[in-house]
Amino acid sequence: MTDTSPSDHERPGGGVQIGDVERIVDDSTNGATRGDGPVEYEERSVPVLIVGAGAAGARVAIELAERGVESLVVGKRDHGDAHTTWAAGGVNAALGSRDDEDDWTIHAADTLKEGHFLNDPEAVELTAKHMPDRIRELAAWGTPFDRTDDGRIDQRYFGAQSYRRTCFVGDRTGEAMLETLIERVRELEVPYRENVMITRLLSDGRRVYGAVGFDMEDGHDLLFRTNHVVLAAGGFSALYDRHSSRADENNGDGPAMALEAGATLLDVEFVQFHPTGMVGARYGQEWDGRLVTEAVRGEGGRLYNVDGERFMERYSPDQMELDARDVVARAIAQELREDRGTENGGVYLDISHRDPEYVKERLPTMYERFQSLGVDITDAPMEIAPTAHYTMGGVDVDFRTGETGVGGLYAVGETVAGVHGANRLGGNSLAETVAIGKLVGEHVGDRVTEADDDPDLPDGQRALAEREFRALAALETADGDTTPQELLSDLGDLLWDHAGILRDEGSLEEGRRKLATLRDRTADLRVEGDRTSQSFEFAVDLAFSLTMADAILRAATERTESRGAHHRTDYPETDPSWRANLTITDDGTGMTLRRRGVAEPSDAVQEALEAGYELDYHHLE
Ligand code: FUM
Repeated sequence: MTDTSPSDHERPGGGVQIGDVERIVDDSTNGATRGDGPVEYEERSVPVLIVGAGAAGARVAIELAERGVESLVVGKRDHGDAHTTWAAGGVNAALGSRDDEDDWTIHAADTLKEGHFLNDPEAVELTAKHMPDRIRELAAWGTPFDRTDDGRIDQRYFGAQSYRRTCFVGDRTGEAMLETLIERVRELEVPYRENVMITRLLSDGRRVYGAVGFDMEDGHDLLFRTNHVVLAAGGFSALYDRHSSRADENNGDGPAMALEAGATLLDVEFVQFHPTGMVGARYGQEWDGRLVTEAVRGEGGRLYNVDGERFMERYSPDQMELDARDVVARAIAQELREDRGTENGGVYLDISHRDPEYVKERLPTMYERFQSLGVDITDAPMEIAPTAHYTMGGVDVDFRTGETGVGGLYAVGETVAGVHGANRLGGNSLAETVAIGKLVGEHVGDRVTEADDDPDLPDGQRALAEREFRALAALETADGDTTPQELLSDLGDLLWDHAGILRDEGSLEEGRRKLATLRDRTADLRVEGDRTSQSFEFAVDLAFSLTMADAILRAATERTESRGAHHRTDYPETDPSWRANLTITDDGTGMTLRRRGVAEPSDAVQEALEAGYELDYHHLE
């Protein structure tokens, strides 16, 4: 079960010689200066550093601020511009606005069932239980949720959910939620520093002392001294060739940095392929893989192959297009493999049978986007194919606290694993960000004391920080023949081909061989531009992406069964003896994989499971 071949966390291009640099520490916080060091950097201390400014990070920051605890949020982009804005169709909470039989235990039961019972039951229960309050809170703070005629927060169907449970703001729910959270962050005057890329956590494997990185606007190095770091930096779905994220988001920095700092990863073999991504060959490569929200199917959208057959009748006659994402994505992949796809490599998603005004009201973003591409979706189908959308795996945490097992290091949001198990229900990612984000904020807030205002940095940790700054300097001057973009693109193809919707041992092993070759090619890296360039950002991302690709390939090879989003054609059945999580640790000598048993749900949720609730698709017809 253990695999200890070495993994390489050094920066690519690290063999490049550094020029003479005379640098001075500018400690603007405590006034100390060091004129004798070989590197120069800005140094700050802060009681809590939150890395990542999407919904999860913002919700932690709000909770801290409401408790009077100072934090600094750092993000790579402008304030309000985070990956959360790409979550479209809705957020789950058992409010019972439409179906009053619904309650949190059924929400939890649906989540566990579709997670194929690999979820952390406590994480699921905390999320399901707290979500009704979090939605009412968001509404009170100003999120303009769509309403029923009698003024209740409206709810729509989403895949594999027993009842209409997904609250929404048209088809821009994540964006609307984030706007509200950012507004609240601003009201509470939480400091936000944009254009900051964190590249390494300062850790001795037992606890964290801070984090280092650089300012993406002018390139200078940054050191944050702190006893509390909250990682809310997203997942790693953008490693795949076709994905629904932006190219410069979700490339594994959060989980990879946590692993390097001594935390444990979990469930990384489970990558969610959303069934409906736009097809680049039809709409232009800039749109390739971009999400067509599940809300289209939630509002009645139907899938057809090129022969006009509503093929889900063959794969899932009861739940049809609203079966779980893994089922629908595999069905589409099968249609494409058997040549029943369009010449552009997609199938059709059609909502034109619904009233045009209804479509425009419920799916305004989709309507306008396709309209701008010359397609009126009230009249014609969209061409779609599966796209990597979300990573169920990530950092192993205690969900009541966000603790990672490394003192002072917490994680939340897509960076972590546990709520979703082997397959995530649509609408549960936004739910997790706010339900768990608040809990993590409460816990961290309780831990911070005055001693955290200006913590010390042990010499060894300062040396680690300065080594990172030298590595970044070396990377900047890398002048080989291969650009980071080329390597990331090759890595995307590799994962798509060898660790995609369908996997088998031979292909995964070939993927690992190709990964070793790709890693060798990083010695010949060429960065085109300075610290402020996208080339440099991609070069930094490359190290994280290689780590996470390695982890995915190892874990997917190890799990010799099919379960949820992990489908092995050589082991097509679910094996009850594999009802276990795969953990990954790395003590600096290489990754070690271990199996770990899964806890059982509470009696209340067990009862809901036994009651056998299930979506009745034909409500929609
Ligand atoms: O399809 C969607 O709108 C995605 C939602 C989600 O991933 O939760």
